Amino acid sequence: MINVLFVCLGNICRSPMAEAVLRSKIEQRKLDNRIAVDSAGTGDWHIGKVPHEGTRRILDQYGISYKNMTARLVNSDDFDRFDYIICMDKSNGENVRKLPGGDKAELLFFMDLLPEEELREVPDPYFTGNFEQVYDLISAGCDVLLDRIASEKL
Ligand code: 4NP
Repeated sequence: MINVLFVCLGNICRSPMAEAVLRSKIEQRKLDNRIAVDSAGTGDWHIGKVPHEGTRRILDQYGISYKNMTARLVNSDDFDRFDYIICMDKSNGENVRKLPGGDKAELLFFMDLLPEEELREVPDPYFTGNFEQVYDLISAGCDVLLDRIASEKL
């Protein structure tokens, strides 16, 4: 099993959107017995909460499930449990890197999946309100990620 963890700040907007979108693409490609996905945050304000209304609304719009998803904190064990830890912005990456932990996981920035995009961080819709922009980036990046995992690891 290849395990993917998306990380953002609050684990209520960007990383749960990426988790739900990637899971839906994994199911569409019938890879759910090969790839698993989760998400976590570097901040503790929203632990246990369901995704933000803006994320739920856009996932509903595209018919993508976010059932049973609640916010949690990233932790040191995640370095051993996951093959990829994919951070939404530079500050998330710095905070993840500060955690003591194993070295199994490959640490990536989400926007590394989309090198042609001028944006180098996934904008935080908690502050911008633009969930559609984030959905478009996340959907495109998840396609690239799945192609990469399929060609390198499966
Ligand atoms: P996220 O967005 O990191 O994409 O989940 C945020 C959610 C909550 C907060 C910041 C960012 N907050 O400050 O509570």
